[in-house]
Amino acid sequence: MNKKNGKKGKSKKTRIVKLLAVVLAFVFLTIFECLKQYEIEIYENTEISVNETADNYQFIKELKNVKILTEKTEIDTSTVGEQYVYLTVKPTIGKKYDFGYRITVVDREIPKITFNGDLETTEGTEIDLLKGVSATDNSNEEIAVSVEGDYDFTKPGEYSLKYVAIDSSNNKAEEAFKLTVKAKSAPQVTQTEGTSSQTKPETTTQKEKEPSNTTSETVTFTTSKGYQGVTQNGVTYIDGYLVANKTYSLPSTYGTGLTAETKSAFNTMSAAAKKDGLNIYISSGFRSYSTQNRIYNNYVNNYGRTSADTFSARPGHSEHQSGLAVDVNIISDAFIGTPEAIWLNNNCYKYGFILRYPQGKSNETGYKYEPWHFRYVGVDLATKLYNGGDWITMEDYFGITSQYQ
Ligand code: DAL
Ligand code: ZN
Repeated sequence: MNKKNGKKGKSKKTRIVKLLAVVLAFVFLTIFECLKQYEIEIYENTEISVNETADNYQFIKELKNVKILTEKTEIDTSTVGEQYVYLTVKPTIGKKYDFGYRITVVDREIPKITFNGDLETTEGTEIDLLKGVSATDNSNEEIAVSVEGDYDFTKPGEYSLKYVAIDSSNNKAEEAFKLTVKAKSAPQVTQTEGTSSQTKPETTTQKEKEPSNTTSETVTFTTSKGYQGVTQNGVTYIDGYLVANKTYSLPSTYGTGLTAETKSAFNTMSAAAKKDGLNIYISSGFRSYSTQNRIYNNYVNNYGRTSADTFSARPGHSEHQSGLAVDVNIISDAFIGTPEAIWLNNNCYKYGFILRYPQGKSNETGYKYEPWHFRYVGVDLATKLYNGGDWITMEDYFGITSQYQ
C-alpha cells in the first residue's frame, strides 16, 4: 500500500515539474520571439514615375516586429532623381527611431523635339543644324539633342539626317529632317578671308549678337570692399576669382566642360563622403550658354520670369557655364536636411567648394537657397567663406552686387 501511495506521490510531482517546464518554455519562447530582431524589407525596385502619386507604404515589402508610427505621407515625385523617405518606426521591444530609404523618381516619357523643318544651305556655307531645335518633356531634366547622320557642307546634295534627343533617364526621341546643300550657281570671285589685303571689306559678315559685356577691351575696377576686379574678354575676375552672377556675365562661347581642378576636387570630396557611407554624385555640371537658355526659358514658360529669376540664371549668367560649379544629387528642396546635404554643408570647404547660395542670403546672391549647388574656389577662399559654418557669400566677401542691369 505504502509503496503504491509513494509511487502516486512521485508521479504527481513529476507532472507538476513537467507542467512548469512547459510554462517556462512558453514564457521564454515568447520573450525570445519579442526580442527577435525586427525587420523592414523594402522592395528591390523603388522606382516611381515622375508626377505619379506615391505613399510611404507602397515600397514596403515586409514588416517584422515593427510598427510604422508616421501617418501616410505623400512623396514628392515632381522632380526626377533620388530622394530619401523617412518613416518613424517602433520595434516591438526598443525605442522608436527614424528609418530612411531611397527611392528614385524616373521619367519614362520620351522627349518632344521641336524644330524648324528641313534645312538648306549653299555649298561651303556651314549652318548650325541645332539652331532653333529644342526638346522638352514632362520633367525638368537636362535633354541632350544631337544630329545623327553623315553630311558635308562642301559637297552639294540632299542628306537625310535625324535629330536625336535623350533625357537623363535615357528616354530617346528621334525626328528625321533633310539638309540640302545647294551647288553654287555660278562661278564667283571668291573672297578669301585673311589675305594680305590691309583694307577692310565694306560689308562685314553678320555675326550672332554676343552678350553685351563680350568685348576684347579690358576694364579694371575696385570693389566696395577694396578688391581688384578685371573684366577681360567678357569674363570677370575679382581678386583672381572668376565671378558669374546676375551682375557679371560670361560670353556665350565661354566654357567647354568642368575644369580639371573642379573634377578632381569633386572626386576627392565624393570619395571622402563614401567613407562616411554617403553617395554624392553630380546631377548637373557644366552647362553651355544654349543649354542654360533652354532651361531658363522652360522655367519662364512654366513659372513666369519673376519667379524663374529667383532660382534659375539667365543665359550667360549661370555659374554652371564657368565649369566651376556642380549641382549634386537631388536638385530640389527634397535634398534639404538629407545626410548628404548636411555632410556637404559641413565638409565641402575642405575640398575647395563653397555652398554658393546659402539660406537667407538671396538678397546678396540673387537666388534662393540651393543646398545642392557647389562652386569650386580652392581651399583658402572656401575656408574663409565657410566661416565656421556661418557661410559668407562671394558677393558679401568681395563687396559686389548680383543684379541684372
Ligand atoms: N540655379 C542657378 C542659379 C543657375 O541656374 O545657375
Ligand atoms: Zn546649380
